[in-house]
Amino acid sequence: MITSLNDRIKLNNGTAIPGLGLGVFQIPNEETADIVANGIKQGYRLIDTAQVYDNEKGTGEGISRGLKENDLQREDLFVTSKIWNNHLTYDETIAAANDSLQKLGLDYLDLYLIHWPGNDSFKDSYLALEQLYKEGKIKAIGVSNFQVHHLEELAKFATVTPVLNQVESHPKLIQAEVRDYAAKHDIKIQAWSPLMQGKILKDATLETIAKKHGKSVAQGDIQRDVLLVVKSVHPARM
Ligand SMILES: NC(=O)c1ccc[n+]([C@@H]2O[C@H](COP(=O)([O-])OP(=O)(O)OC[C@H]3O[C@@H](n4cnc5c(N)ncnc54)[C@H](OP(=O)(O)O)[C@@H]3O)[C@@H](O)[C@H]2O)c1
Repeated sequence: MITSLNDRIKLNNGTAIPGLGLGVFQIPNEETADIVANGIKQGYRLIDTAQVYDNEKGTGEGISRGLKENDLQREDLFVTSKIWNNHLTYDETIAAANDSLQKLGLDYLDLYLIHWPGNDSFKDSYLALEQLYKEGKIKAIGVSNFQVHHLEELAKFATVTPVLNQVESHPKLIQAEVRDYAAKHDIKIQAWSPLMQGKILKDATLETIAKKHGKSVAQGDIQRDVLLVVKSVHPARM
């Protein structure tokens, strides 16, 4: 279990990732810089964005401010982005990754994920990510929303095992099958929407269980999952 926003967990390539990160899904680009800078001030060290969120630029500005205002170094932060896998070729993937880096204003990404598997058309994209990983532009590569059959398909050609698979997971969606496969293959699971977009916080059954154990509903997520990305735009909730 992680006990602070600074706790890091080792991934299969030796990279250490903060257990709990701040996601910026559904935040308009022009609001993102303030929210990311605030998140860093509140102690978050992992920032999770994606090309499709259309706020990599704001995220980059927030990171730059957060580093300056809190006297941090780039390596104190862990930045994840994701490529929208829209039947991209190898070259298009390289170009898309460079575009992410440019918008974020970073020399390297800590983690780059294939956002969705698509119709099993992720081979060229994944091979391009392997190349960027070997060049050091991405410190770790992974996938998102992959089910077991996608991971099995990937294992047939990948020379670099994904460090993690980011999937929707909360008390109402435990993802047992993919968790089991991942554990056997040294791939971490990172939960997205761990609060079920805020809905689990109002669930009467979970509230009763949490009360019985002297915890908040959100704490249950932290005890169950090692890696999570959560979102709030409010400093107090962060
Ligand atoms: N890989 C993928 O396909 C994928 C898909 C979805 C999300 N993600 C990542 O996962 C991150 C988190 O997921 P998410 O944003 O969908 O959902 P989430 O973290 O489960 O929930 C976020 C929602 O909960 C609300 N909330 C947070 N703290 C609260 C509190 N203390 N009391 C009441 N409401 C609270 C937030 O509202 P306020 O902001 O108003 O506080 C927001 O509406 C995303 O930001 C993104 O980075 C990845």
